[in-house]
Amino acid sequence: MKIGSQSVSNLGMGTWYLGEGDAQQSTQEIAALRYGIEHGINVIDTAEMYGQGAAESLVGQAIIPYQREQLFLISKFYPWHATLNTMRTALKNSLQRLQTNYLDLYLLHWPGDTPIKETLQGLQTLQREGLIKQYGVSNFDTADLRMAHLTMPSATISTNEVLYNLDSRGIEYDLLPYHQDQGIATIGYSPFGSGDGQEIHLPDALAELARAKQITVHQLLLAWVLRNNDVLAIPKASSIDHVQANIAAQAVTWTPQELAVIDQAFPRPTRKTPLKVI
Ligand SMILES: NC(=O)c1ccc[n+]([C@@H]2O[C@H](COP(=O)([O-])OP(=O)(O)OC[C@H]3O[C@@H](n4cnc5c(N)ncnc54)[C@H](OP(=O)(O)O)[C@@H]3O)[C@@H](O)[C@H]2O)c1
Repeated sequence: MKIGSQSVSNLGMGTWYLGEGDAQQSTQEIAALRYGIEHGINVIDTAEMYGQGAAESLVGQAIIPYQREQLFLISKFYPWHATLNTMRTALKNSLQRLQTNYLDLYLLHWPGDTPIKETLQGLQTLQREGLIKQYGVSNFDTADLRMAHLTMPSATISTNEVLYNLDSRGIEYDLLPYHQDQGIATIGYSPFGSGDGQEIHLPDALAELARAKQITVHQLLLAWVLRNNDVLAIPKASSIDHVQANIAAQAVTWTPQELAVIDQAFPRPTRKTPLKVI
């Protein structure tokens, strides 16, 4: 899929909680990220928040062997770093940890107190300075985005990164259509419901469907997010086995009947619900 004019893989890699373990754990996590990069994933999602920089530092080490242009690096800044000066400092720190001199995409992590116009103007400046290729937001509901567009029509908000999984389908009601209407790329986070990845309980009918398709429950969850090629999914995986399973989930195809079984267990939204956030 595309974010702005840049081509990205539909599957990216999340990094929340990476880089927080011992040396052995870090080695395993770096191997997992490298496996993903070497098997077609070019998107890595991180944030200054994750391990207070530890995830960005781990990503910085993981990407050393690769050409920078091959990768699409996303990071996010705290809402209290959302003025031009605080944002520039936060970005420079992120770039240092990531051992790079630009980000492909820089996101406001969630809405905060700084007027969105000021934040978007700051992001435009960082873009002009060549420190970021594109910018966007995260955890913005439809009304937040409308307000941003209204107050700053010249801003190109290329992306909104939001919670999206089988158990959290609210965005399908009006946020996804708004994104499509405005040319905003959707990044869906926590395809497995976050935590230890066991948060979404699948009823027997779906566990049976996974068995029949010879995929795991996690592959069912991820392949469902990827089903329309309109959402970039960013599962976090700490091992090569998990990255391998997630890559394989891209090949899963669905029949209308199978999707109907899924819809029965986790219905599409029929009314507006406030955006869920983790
Ligand atoms: N913008 C935001 O506000 C926001 C909020 C939340 C998350 N995010 C981003 O989205 C990413 C993903 O979300 P998340 O980390 O919250 O949770 P997630 O990806 O839904 O779930 C991660 C859990 O799933 C497990 N897992 C991964 N692949 C698996 C597989 N194939 N089979 C079985 N288990 C598997 C992981 O285990 P292992 O670690 O053992 O592999 C981990 O326990 C984050 O890392 C972050 O980059 C963004």
